[in-house]
Amino acid sequence: MSIHKAEDNRKVTTRRLVEMKQRGERISMLTAYDYTTAGIVDKSGIDVILVGDSASNVMAGNVTTLPITLDQMIYHGKSVVRAVERALVVVDMPFGSYQGNSKEALSSAIRIMKETHADAIKLEGGEEILESVNRILCAGIPVMGHLGLMPQSINKYGTYNVRAKEKDEADKLVNDAMLLQEAGCFAIVLEKIPAELGKKVAEKLEIPIIGIGAGRYVDGQVLVLHDMLGMTQGFSPRFLRRYADLNSIIHDAVGHYIADVKNNDFPNNNEQY
Ligand code: KIV
Repeated sequence: MSIHKAEDNRKVTTRRLVEMKQRGERISMLTAYDYTTAGIVDKSGIDVILVGDSASNVMAGNVTTLPITLDQMIYHGKSVVRAVERALVVVDMPFGSYQGNSKEALSSAIRIMKETHADAIKLEGGEEILESVNRILCAGIPVMGHLGLMPQSINKYGTYNVRAKEKDEADKLVNDAMLLQEAGCFAIVLEKIPAELGKKVAEKLEIPIIGIGAGRYVDGQVLVLHDMLGMTQGFSPRFLRRYADLNSIIHDAVGHYIADVKNNDFPNNNEQY
């Protein structure tokens, strides 16, 4: 297994992501929700850190992303931004903070940018939320789109199955992606769609397409950090590659600690004042 070393330590910008697509350099993106892990992920050389609303699942233990609030996303965003020097930081707009109307969407986006100091926001949807996207972009806030499986719409779908397998949904996705690009979005996440559709969108659009379960032909990849580190359990979609088994490592370390405490082996003479 090879390990990446970032050669360019300049801060990643939305413009640099587009240049990376132009020269065929793949974009790496991971989620983070707190100061300590964001610092490790940034120093490892990741290009983009997403403060995802998946915090609702992995941080708070909710079944869906719907319950997380704007205040909670801002708390996570601030914690991450404090740790990051190089990566572009994108904060998810939570469910209910932008779907109502474009004025509300803009004030939610402004709160995220003012209070977290993040670099950009991400929201889910195409044509339906275009007015909000336009309004946010007009205020000078960079927007990342999110199409395909949109977890904030899970109650409408009723399933986390692959999206856009049928022509109508695939055509709508391509059209939505074009609309987001025309509006001025700097990148789009495509979640859980057929690889051929991911390829078609990545070839058609000039802005970077970042996939999660969207195949290998898109311009970059994103995973939820806790999933790829093997901290979460009982979630094994085909697209998820686990790079560590932190669940076992933490479990064993905590088990050793408990045993040492019980056996009066910790602290020893050198570990006390
Ligand atoms: O919230 C999140 O983690 C996301 C990724 C799945 C792209 O939106």
